[in-house]
Amino acid sequence: MAILVTGGAGYIGSHTCVELLNEGYEIIVVDNFSNSKPEALKRVSEITGKSFKIYPVDVLNKDELEEVFSNHKIDSVIHFAGFKAVGESVTFPLKYYQNNITGTVVLCDLMKKYKVKNLVFSSSATVYGSTDQVPIVENTQLGAVNPYGRTKQMIEEILQDLHHSDPTWSIAILRYFNPIGAHESGRIGEDPNGIPNNLMPYISQVAVGKLQKLTVFGNDYPTKDGTGVRDYIHVVDLAIGHLKALENVQSTCGVDAYNLGTGKGYSVLEMVGAFENASGKSIPIRLSKRRPGDAATCFANPSKAKEKLNWQATRGINVMCADTWRWQRNNPDGYEKVLKTIIGSHSPVQNHAAGFLMPE
Ligand code: UFG
Repeated sequence: MAILVTGGAGYIGSHTCVELLNEGYEIIVVDNFSNSKPEALKRVSEITGKSFKIYPVDVLNKDELEEVFSNHKIDSVIHFAGFKAVGESVTFPLKYYQNNITGTVVLCDLMKKYKVKNLVFSSSATVYGSTDQVPIVENTQLGAVNPYGRTKQMIEEILQDLHHSDPTWSIAILRYFNPIGAHESGRIGEDPNGIPNNLMPYISQVAVGKLQKLTVFGNDYPTKDGTGVRDYIHVVDLAIGHLKALENVQSTCGVDAYNLGTGKGYSVLEMVGAFENASGKSIPIRLSKRRPGDAATCFANPSKAKEKLNWQATRGINVMCADTWRWQRNNPDGYEKVLKTIIGSHSPVQNHAAGFLMPE
């Protein structure tokens, strides 16, 4: 029995694939590579020494996705595939509703048809909107404040309805706080398109010399040093959280949401200091006004995940920064250079529905 991982080539998806393979799971990856690179999966194979089937398929393409369900005995699904840029979602809301929501509905419809009812869903702390009640607990009133966040919130509601209609579904909704870091090998990590929007990839690109200085958005928040406070979580801890959630959905029925965070908040300036220590590089900063829509402070109460999933984050910010730096230093252009070589020589994306094996 296999685990289907949609969006498995992405940042969190690729790290989760490594942990799944290391635990001995058989995995099938579906990814349309619209925002990720096949090279990430090649490196997942390299890190784990294991091969697995990859389908370069869009979850919106029901016929091609159905071939995956009919070709394999799938036990459970971990669903990462989706767009995730907050700013872009404000400019192109329909693109986000179409891709994230319709994609999930198509997937669940096929899961229903093939009687696969175990699902781990990639949600986000963004569903809480701008709550000032910290630490945030799961039963806080949801209120996403942008289209991206609303897609996650709406999908959560769809999954609740699905479970209500058929209680044999077993669904874990994972609300991520701020994932950073990279695999300790330095072979896989976050590879944002263009200029990063998020703090950690921005800092690491300043450290490696690709960007000149970090703009700090606001130093007049009611926080320890006036800059925004977030709950940064190592992507490998997050990936392990998916395995714990998978074990849970495989052994129970129900639908439950879990915060995946550390429960600790760090300010922008604390993160800059930690990154300078880890990298030995100085990060020039420029103070600027607040970024619209940003909360002062956001961190999780992660005790539900500890109690019910037996999961808790173990990696601190020094490890997060050291691992981010190793990835950035070794791959200053992310996966880009290698991608050009692959596409230049031959395209592995030949027969979508047939899939291909990595490594080839
Ligand atoms: N920040 C800067 N300068 C930058 C980028 C960010 O000062 O160049 C600050 C922000 O103002 C904020 C903190 O760094 O105080 C973290 O910002 P990020 O953009 O890294 O992360 P956010 O907390 O804004 O949002 C992230 C994801 C969302 C997700 C949310 C979950 O981008 O998709 O975490 O809490 F929903």
